Amino acid sequence: YKINRCKKKKKKNKKIKGSKDMTITKTIYMYFLYIPTYMLPTFDAWQWEPNEMLSCLEHMYHDLGLVKDFNMNPITLKRWLLCIHDNYRNNPFHNFRHCFCVTQMMYSMICLCNLQEKLPQVDILILMTAAVCHDLDHPGYNNTYQINARTELAVRYNDLSPLENHHCAVAFQIFSQPDCNIFSKFDPEAFKQIRQGTITLILATDMARHGEILDSFKQKVDGFDYADEEHVTCLKMVLIKCCDISNEVRPMEVAEPWVDCLLEEYFMQSDREKSEGLPVAPFMDREKVTKPTAQIGFIKFVLIPMFETVMKLFPQIEEAMVQPLRESRDRYEELKQIDDAMNEVQVLQMIQSAEEEEREPDDWREEEVSV
Ligand SMILES: *[C@@H]1O[C@H](CO)[C@@H](O)[C@H](O)[C@H]1NC(C)=O
Ligand SMILES: [Zn+2]
Repeated sequence: YKINRCKKKKKKNKKIKGSKDMTITKTIYMYFLYIPTYMLPTFDAWQWEPNEMLSCLEHMYHDLGLVKDFNMNPITLKRWLLCIHDNYRNNPFHNFRHCFCVTQMMYSMICLCNLQEKLPQVDILILMTAAVCHDLDHPGYNNTYQINARTELAVRYNDLSPLENHHCAVAFQIFSQPDCNIFSKFDPEAFKQIRQGTITLILATDMARHGEILDSFKQKVDGFDYADEEHVTCLKMVLIKCCDISNEVRPMEVAEPWVDCLLEEYFMQSDREKSEGLPVAPFMDREKVTKPTAQIGFIKFVLIPMFETVMKLFPQIEEAMVQPLRESRDRYEELKQIDDAMNEVQVLQMIQSAEEEEREPDDWREEEVSV
């Protein structure tokens, strides 16, 4: 994989650094000063342009003290983020805006759960950086497709989390460019720690490992020990997983468009699977899935159990995250009932009109006779 060089795009950045961009930056800055909504899970990421999201990410690194504590070059941070942006593809779902949302949710959780009081700064850096990098160069087709279609990625990674391995490899290819390496001032030991931590978190985002990771966390959560490295690693894995699939935590107006994006990406995959004669999952089939059916099971059996487990450690997320999930589940269940009722009516109407069609000639004759 050849990464998109951020050098090339440096020019583009210069161009948008005109007076117009200054006003945008100023507006964002005022926004940050007075209404720090970017700290909340309710933040609406849809209304921002890529360069505004980039400024926001940059701001988070400064605000968390990562730039200062790790002696990062602020210009390198800007170049790195721009390079990150350029290495996300324009998929319906797995795009730079998704990267932004996941990182913004991570930032919200760091604030909400007071993680800076509980974890060393290096773990905060790992959490944020893994979130930023976690879907780099996602091709829009999932691991199962990669494996079944025997793609280059599946071959390279021997079918073992090919996508997550790739996202991670691209992340470190980017860091290997000196002008994008925010860790350039780290000693080799510190770099090793960041690298290991980031790899572990990005690989944890493979949903095939969901049960395994959540079970492992459940075993630790009751006697959770912040001094136990294994416990902390497991917590970080669960946190990035939570952020990665956190759209339904957001307000309905923000969350719902993401379902359309995800279905669009699923349909793209299932269409391709059909045309290539590969197995198709019913939940990805445009003939079979609806928004409520796609979401209800996911919210009930994946999201709520995971967030409720995290809630044992951070009770403050109940109101901010778990409650919105329950509301979303209830709303989709209502929508499904409406869908089902509509389908029933449609079926009845079809039967009725079929019956009427059969009767029609008779009725006609009767009417003619009566006239
Ligand atoms: C990936 O796609 C396959 C269909 O090819 C599906 O069975 C599988 O559940 C999907 N995985 C995820 C994590 O969505
Ligand atoms: Zn993701």
